[in-house]
Amino acid sequence: MSAVGIDAIEIWTGKLELDLPNTFAPAKNEDPEKYTKGLGLQTSSFPDTYEDIVTMGANAAKRLMDRKDLMPDDIGRIDVATESAFDNSKPVSTYIAGCLERVHDGDFHHANKGERKFACVSGTQSIDDAYNWIRAGRHRGRSALVIATDTALYARGDPGEATQGAGAVAMLISEDPSLVELSNEQGYGSADETDFLKPNQQFPSVDGKRSMQVYLARMREAVEDFESVAWDMQPEDFAYIPFHTPFPGMVRKAGLLGYRHTIRDTEVEDELAEQIGRQPREAEYDDWEAYEEAIRAYMDQLKDTDEYLDWYDRVIEPTLDISRRVGNWYTGSVHVARASALKHALETDRSLAGEKLLIGSYGSGAQAEIHAETVQDGWREEIEALSIDEQLERRYDISYEEYEKVHDAHNHDMDREVEEFTQPEGEFVHAGWGRMNERKYEYVE
Ligand code: CAA
Repeated sequence: MSAVGIDAIEIWTGKLELDLPNTFAPAKNEDPEKYTKGLGLQTSSFPDTYEDIVTMGANAAKRLMDRKDLMPDDIGRIDVATESAFDNSKPVSTYIAGCLERVHDGDFHHANKGERKFACVSGTQSIDDAYNWIRAGRHRGRSALVIATDTALYARGDPGEATQGAGAVAMLISEDPSLVELSNEQGYGSADETDFLKPNQQFPSVDGKRSMQVYLARMREAVEDFESVAWDMQPEDFAYIPFHTPFPGMVRKAGLLGYRHTIRDTEVEDELAEQIGRQPREAEYDDWEAYEEAIRAYMDQLKDTDEYLDWYDRVIEPTLDISRRVGNWYTGSVHVARASALKHALETDRSLAGEKLLIGSYGSGAQAEIHAETVQDGWREEIEALSIDEQLERRYDISYEEYEKVHDAHNHDMDREVEEFTQPEGEFVHAGWGRMNERKYEYVE
């Protein structure tokens, strides 16, 4: 059975940046350290007035097709994952395919197109769909294009406003991939939850604190489910563990939970016992609440041990570098975390081929998914080709007043004309509206 996985990725960031500690915090009369130390964020990416989920997705996909020298005939499906869709019938993938057909010879008339919805986990679900399609032998030698694209905007004044972001990740799923092979094993933690939703509205209704608890609970279930079909994981099994990253502070909590879980019944737990005791076992407690409290007390001590801090610095921290600079990209967020980790390996000249990653995806509402990936020989070349650092460097730094204007410009319920802040060049732009109120796009040379 040949390997199936991610052959290439490209990232496209919204072209504006909002400085959280220096621009946003003072305007909100808040301590900048809430952003840098608490949430773990520095800047967020914003779409300029001519950008949206289609332009960002199409721009990422065009870069990917150009770099991999692909023609439309090489692509057998285009799946878009988004929670920012503006049409309940016509999928975003048709708009993106239309854009790409403007600049490539040929068409995608024989590619299966769709749109996946399950909050932020749908990017990973789209990769699963592509994997299954290839494994089933229905792909006719072609690859799948998976595009995770979002404008993660919250209503002004909502606590989630601090964690906004906008960007797209395009991924090519193929046989014999250059970047990572996906494990056949997966674990799920899924339940009907009301923590974050958009019932036919643009900006989400969020119970922020609860959403964090639900994230951790579903992630724990997914880890246990994965172990039931894969193996009992240990902390050193993985070079990096990229999690869904709504903001790095959330991953700090997920990382600690993962470490506690994987050191249980290992030598690491025995060694740590001298400092902080052994982990509480459920059987030792009369009720669940007392057990949970004991676990919390154990984790409180665990998070300050040298062993944990060293593991966190090596395995988790490198996954957060891009996220700190772009905020939440919803469906793209976990894929940004993977790219960040691989970029770190490249920059530190680490030999990674054959090593494993554990991917922790999550979507509100709520579902977590865990799978493993094996880094392939071609990873270095693929990651060297990323231009995310230059793109981030080129973003236009908006003032708070400009932020308010651009937020209004993207608000579907407002009719506010705002001049663009940057000049488009070599990219797709939103260029107006058609006779059936559809969005129209152009390619600007
Ligand atoms: N110095 C250092 N740290 C500070 C600080 C300061 N001056 N001020 C605050 N902090 C810390 C806080 O202690 C807190 O950290 P802990 O959680 O570790 O205690 C952190 O900074 C955030 O501070 P608050 O809790 O006071 O922030 P808040 O009440 O404004 O809201 C939030 C935080 C609930 C995450 C909010 O941003 C939100 O609603 N975000 C959207 C929902 C979200 O992202 N949920 C994540 C899980 S759901 C998911 O993952 C799906 C998704 O993509 C949306």
